[in-house]
Amino acid sequence: MKDIIVIASGKGGTGKSTVAVGLGTALSAQGCRVLLIDCDSGMRGLDIMLGITQNLVFDIADAVSGSCTVENTVYPCPDKPGLFLMPAPLNAYDEVAPQILGQLVHGVEDIFDYVIIDSPAGVGSGFEAAAYPARRALAVINTEPTSIRGGQTVSAKLRACGIDDIRLVINRFNKNTFRKMALYKDLDEIIDITALQLIGIIPEDYSLAAYIQSGKSGKLNSPAMKALCNIAQRVEGQSVPLMIR
Ligand SMILES: Nc1ncnc2c1ncn2[C@@H]1O[C@H](COP(=O)(O)OP(=O)(O)OP(=O)(O)O)[C@@H](O)[C@H]1O
Ligand SMILES: [Mg+2]
Repeated sequence: MKDIIVIASGKGGTGKSTVAVGLGTALSAQGCRVLLIDCDSGMRGLDIMLGITQNLVFDIADAVSGSCTVENTVYPCPDKPGLFLMPAPLNAYDEVAPQILGQLVHGVEDIFDYVIIDSPAGVGSGFEAAAYPARRALAVINTEPTSIRGGQTVSAKLRACGIDDIRLVINRFNKNTFRKMALYKDLDEIIDITALQLIGIIPEDYSLAAYIQSGKSGKLNSPAMKALCNIAQRVEGQSVPLMIR
C-alpha cells in the first residue's frame, strides 16, 4: 500500500467525484492497483461514472451488516484494468461510522497500491468517515470565494482528523471566465488564501465531464485528463511541470 487518499472539498459540486474517478483511472493506467471507495451514502455515483452499475450486488453497508464479505463489495472495472470500486450504501441511513470504515479499509489495503476515498460534500459525519482511514488528502476547489472558503474549512477539519498532507486541486479552471469575473488577481492569490500546496490545475473540459458521466471506457486525450495524469504522477512522487499558471 502506497497511500490512502481522501478527496474532499467542503462545498458541494466542486468536482470531487470527477477527480476521484479521473485520478483512479490515471493511476491504474500507470500500472497501479487502485480501490475507489464511494463514501456518498444515499447519493452514490461512482458506479455510474465507471460504467459498472449493472454489476453491483453488494455495497459497504452489506459488508458492515455481515450480509457479505468485504471482498464481495470490491468490483473490478473491466474496461480499466487495475481499477476497483467499493460502492457506497444506497440509503443515507446506512452511512458507515468512521472506525468501521477504517477497519474495512485495513482489511483490503494490502492488495492495493492506492485507496482513494470520495468524500460527500460538507464536513459532517459522511466526511468524517471518509477522512478517518486516509493518510493524505486532496482538497478540490473552483475559483470562487464560496468554494475557496470550503477548501479552507475542509483543510482545517482534515488537520483536526490528523491529516497534515493536504494538497490543493483547482478544478474547472477557465482562463476567460476567471479574467471576466476578476475576483482575484491571479491563481497565486487563491493558492495563498488556502495556504495549501498546489498539486494540479484541471481545466474546465466538457469532454472529461462527458467521458466520466457516461461511464465510458477507452483512453481520453483531453486537457483535463492530461492534467489528471500529471496529478497522478505527482501523487506517485514524480516531478511534473504545471500546465496552466
Ligand atoms: N474539469 C471539469 N470540466 C467540466 N466539468 C466538470 C469538471 N469537473 C467536474 N465537472 C462537472 O461538475 C459537476 C460536479 O462534478 P462532481 O459530481 O464530480 O462534483 P462533486 O464535488 O463530487 O459533487 P458532490 O459534492 O455533489 O459530490 C458535474 O456535472 C461534472 O461533470
Ligand atoms: Mg461527488
